[in-house]
Amino acid sequence: MTAPSTDDEAVKEVVQQYWDGRADSYDGDSAHGIRSEEQRDAWLSVLREWTGEPPRRVLDVGCGTGVVSLLLAAIGHEVTGIDLSDGMLDRARQKARETNGTVEFRTGDAESIPDPANTYDLVTARHLVWTLPNPSAAIRDWTRVVRPEGRIVLIEGHWDFSEPFDGYREIHDDLPLYQGRPPEELAGVLRQAGLEDVEYEPLMDAVLWGEQPDYEQYVIAGDVAE
Ligand SMILES: C[S@@+](CC[C@H](N)C(=O)[O-])C[C@H]1O[C@@H](n2cnc3c(N)ncnc32)[C@H](O)[C@@H]1O
Repeated sequence: MTAPSTDDEAVKEVVQQYWDGRADSYDGDSAHGIRSEEQRDAWLSVLREWTGEPPRRVLDVGCGTGVVSLLLAAIGHEVTGIDLSDGMLDRARQKARETNGTVEFRTGDAESIPDPANTYDLVTARHLVWTLPNPSAAIRDWTRVVRPEGRIVLIEGHWDFSEPFDGYREIHDDLPLYQGRPPEELAGVLRQAGLEDVEYEPLMDAVLWGEQPDYEQYVIAGDVAE
């Protein structure tokens, strides 16, 4: 693994501060938090289909306020969530206490996972790769911590913002996948990182997002080689 550059560390500092500032309001937005039983059931159904029979050891990278991590735990998986932002993680831990959710939430960098090789059966990440300075290196590190024949499952989008949004104005040029990518392009990135049998499916059901999504949303997964 290459050592992170000072520039990357400075970018991540901006990213972390941005998400610390979003922590209190994040779950209030139905595109992020779970706002109804119907929405929860819709997400559980997607996650069951793409993560397989529980219990699996899952690392949810860039877990934020733990929306996906806690759903994965509810399905019966053994879940660890990591995120750069302590603000987001505080919310995640509070929600875990309120719902008796059993997830280990840790502060950490998605581009440099501290666990040994083959620690997990699955890595999941929702809406993370667009905000990483080194997404390809990150995905390669995720393949390291997933056992052979394990899986990486990403929920991603292609937002195509007309201009960089506040908080990311100074750093968006440092983020190779800023705005997300169409699934066929991200599939190429996953294959380049060594994943096999990459497949994807649209996630455009309004129930998942609380409203009809304006942008392409999808789930994409690939298998770690034997
Ligand atoms: C759009 S939010 C998604 C949160 C969560 N996955 C979800 O779907 O609700 C992006 C999250 O990625 C986290 N993040 C960004 N860069 C990261 C990095 N290098 N390592 C770990 N987390 C990171 C942010 O702190 C933020 O919580």
